[in-house]
Amino acid sequence: MAVENGRKPRAMFATRFGALAAIVGSSVGLGNIWRFPYEAGMHGGGAFLLCYLACVLLLGIPVLCAEFFMGRTTRSNVFGAYLKLSPHGRWYLSGYVGIIASFLIISFYSVVAGWTVEYSFCSLTGQLDFSTTANGHAQFRLLTSGWRSVWWTILFLIINFGVLSAGVTKGIERMANIMMPLLFVLLIAFCINSCRMSGFKEGMSFLFRPDFTQITPSVILSALGQAFFSLSLGLGCMITYASYFKKDTHPGRIATTSALLDTVVALLAGVIIFPAVFSFDLSPEAGPTLVFEVLPYVFSQLPGGIIWATLFFMLLFIASITSTVSMSEISISYFCDEKSMTRRRSTMVSAVIALVGGTLCALSFGPMSHLTIGGMNLFELFDFLASNICLPVGGFICAVFVGWKVDKVLFRNMFVVDSRYSFPPSGLLHLSLRYFCPAAIVLIFFNSLGLL
Ligand code: TRP
Repeated sequence: MAVENGRKPRAMFATRFGALAAIVGSSVGLGNIWRFPYEAGMHGGGAFLLCYLACVLLLGIPVLCAEFFMGRTTRSNVFGAYLKLSPHGRWYLSGYVGIIASFLIISFYSVVAGWTVEYSFCSLTGQLDFSTTANGHAQFRLLTSGWRSVWWTILFLIINFGVLSAGVTKGIERMANIMMPLLFVLLIAFCINSCRMSGFKEGMSFLFRPDFTQITPSVILSALGQAFFSLSLGLGCMITYASYFKKDTHPGRIATTSALLDTVVALLAGVIIFPAVFSFDLSPEAGPTLVFEVLPYVFSQLPGGIIWATLFFMLLFIASITSTVSMSEISISYFCDEKSMTRRRSTMVSAVIALVGGTLCALSFGPMSHLTIGGMNLFELFDFLASNICLPVGGFICAVFVGWKVDKVLFRNMFVVDSRYSFPPSGLLHLSLRYFCPAAIVLIFFNSLGLL
């Protein structure tokens, strides 16, 4: 099996900590703080959380290890990884699904990331009112009306691709190493503040007391989609990042640590949002705008709300950029490796596609809001197609591939670092990738489509 890139030696994460920080940076993002609370709110709170935790543990961690395996052994992008491991099969087609879906995700993701830039800018310049319990809904409408959202989305994408083409990801990594722990501390501070809210009890029981009658096939599919989204799975993002792992990196430890941290951040976000939702008589089912409408209420409860708000949205912006950088890397490394483009050129091509997609999604909250397909605007449609269809399909293919096409011993060897076997039980993981994961994903998928 050819493992080297041929032309230039492949870039590597310099240290073990750097690799962990990059993986955590990719997983912790808007998926935890923006998407998790609104998905949980729309799908019954506790019932959703229970399904979500089960999906992370039983499907997320094994698929994460499978993606790590593919990246680390082949040192290739998603397309090249399938091709190297199975030169005569058609598995590489799955790489296309990953690349196309990564553009769908970056399109709607950058709209929300654009809101975080706009919210930090507006609260810094005093255009947002966090000093009173201002109406979050009205503020949100004002800020996203017309073409405003589009400009912020474009600005975000320019920053994202500017960073990538300048090759200053190292700077980003370093910045993230400081900012991510800070975000964590801030989230904990807001959680403590939540305890003082009148709706604390109600919010907590909404999130942590599952109503089992609410567990339906579509809730389970959404939980699976959310688990894969949050762990950056299913598109080959983790294949791409693992191709930059050095020999001394512990993939098993990285997988479990990042899954754990990712889940904790999502839970913290839930503990912040739901007590506020119930304290101010809002509906947990507001959808994608939930967090942006509810947070002004949270900030208004704090002395110096504007400072907290600015800080929080800035940190959220940084958390998003470490995620979009990883998403963009899927297509950039594909264009570089397989199409022999220079890094600059492949960044340009990816940027243009993302700009078109991002603009369309941003417009779907304003001038193009009347355009709906199956009851969803473009933003929601992109999210649905990518998260509920492409991610489970991509995860399924990866699990089947590693479970059936890859030798157990080869898979086990990935966990041998410094000639010692480290965590986790690779036999069990391989077995799960072979039988349990594919079966569970297929069941969840078809059941929710009403086909079973
Ligand atoms: N995990 C990120 C978040 O929670 C989003 C993300 C980054 C992603 N890379 C991905 C989602 C690849 C799916 C696939 O915000």
